[in-house]
Amino acid sequence: MAVKAVIMAAGQGTRMKSDLPKVLHQVAGRSMVDWVIAAARQVGATQIMVVVGHGSDTVTANLPDDVDSCLQAEQLGTGHAVQIAVEALGDVSSDTVLVLSGDTPLLQGSSLTSLLAAFDDGRPAAALLTADIDDPTGYGRVLRDVAGQVVGIVEHKDATDAQLTVNEINAGIYAFDGKQLSIALNDLTNDNSQGEYYLTDVVGSFSDQGLPMVAIRTDFDQVAGVNSQAHLADANQVMRRRIALELMETGVWIQDPDQVFISAETSIEPGARIFAGVHFMGRCEVGSEAQIGPDVFADDSRFGKGSMVSYSVVRNSAVGDRVSVGPYASLRSGVVLEAGSKAGTFVEMKNTSLGQEATVAHLSYMGDATIGANTNIGAGAITCNYDGVEKHSTEIGARVLIGSDTMLVAPVSVGDDAMTGAGSTITRNVAPGSLAVERSAQREIAGYADRIGKRRREKEER
Ligand code: UD1
Ligand code: CA
Repeated sequence: MAVKAVIMAAGQGTRMKSDLPKVLHQVAGRSMVDWVIAAARQVGATQIMVVVGHGSDTVTANLPDDVDSCLQAEQLGTGHAVQIAVEALGDVSSDTVLVLSGDTPLLQGSSLTSLLAAFDDGRPAAALLTADIDDPTGYGRVLRDVAGQVVGIVEHKDATDAQLTVNEINAGIYAFDGKQLSIALNDLTNDNSQGEYYLTDVVGSFSDQGLPMVAIRTDFDQVAGVNSQAHLADANQVMRRRIALELMETGVWIQDPDQVFISAETSIEPGARIFAGVHFMGRCEVGSEAQIGPDVFADDSRFGKGSMVSYSVVRNSAVGDRVSVGPYASLRSGVVLEAGSKAGTFVEMKNTSLGQEATVAHLSYMGDATIGANTNIGAGAITCNYDGVEKHSTEIGARVLIGSDTMLVAPVSVGDDAMTGAGSTITRNVAPGSLAVERSAQREIAGYADRIGKRRREKEER
């Protein structure tokens, strides 16, 4: 029996108070619906059908190519959503149909595996995930008979006072026998407090027909739905911890798993050390023995083996093996630091490559520059790359010594083994091996301190 998955994602998510369709909000850098898709893939779903409605164009544009979607133009309820999906899937009478929600990002394949296992022994009409929670407000409640058999689900808004005391909630995650599901969907009505076609009524209908059902209690962490910004933050916290624990399991040292933010697409080699306050956004790669943090914000960047980065921002850049960055460096974008090089304290770089063992140690801005191996950029040196209209590049060779506070007015080049004097404003190319100095002659006024002292005394006497 093939497993086909339906992911309901047409709702507006009013409580998010956001223009972004709810299921596109991110948890650990991945959209909620992508997490649910990943869980469906883990259990080998042969087809995945996402029901879109609110913001359908945006949602569809963000779906992977091999995932299908169908439009639920009007959101008439979860039962209606599944009706449309089943129509789009075609004949599902010999399939098992997983029904998932796009707003449960914490769901993992393992929970779905236990749901599908119910179909290995016997042929239930449905298997559903439930959870016992202290505050079930808002959720549908699972109704069982004295023998413990599931007899139905009642929505919070339709529940009697007695039913509201039930703490076992319907997770909204199901596996259905395709044939029974198709039949039951046709019989749904919207005769309830919300005037919606409830998918949950299928469960009651199966029970009335005496069809076998299985309800599996799972961890609330797996099935928590995200309906507000607060829920989104909670989900991120759970996911953050999950990702950190998984990495620690492989031998990554993490100082405090509650104080690191590691995106789902980030990979970190065993032996790396991650201090508190580190954010890895987008797709980052970290090599073994690297020491990142405290307080580093990194986005789409690579960190080589043995690199050390602290109190810095690194975007869209490649930090090579044994490179040192910070404290307080900003690699804005397009920066390549080759092995053994250094971008030190209060250094900003953009679209710049720094050769092996080269150093920019203090208080510099290097933009649109290439800097050769073993070159030393003195404190306070700056590439003046912008003439008010356009950006220009600076080429600095290998083994160059750029004096402190040198202004390199681009476009300009400094040849291999050349030097510039401290405080020079370099506007013309410097030949290899030359020393370029540009500064006015120093004046000295002897006895100046005495002159000042005399004026001070005169002022006091007045
Ligand atoms: C639903 C369940 C409830 C369960 C809860 C778990 C029903 C009637 N109730 O309630 O028993 O405890 O989930 O989180 O199923 N959606 C559509 N089209 C629609 C309506 C909803 O695609 O017409 C989507 C939503 O975008 C969402 C999911 O279905 O992703 C669940 O809908 P939602 O309105 O959040 O259902 P709940 O009231 O939370
Ligand atoms: Ca919900």
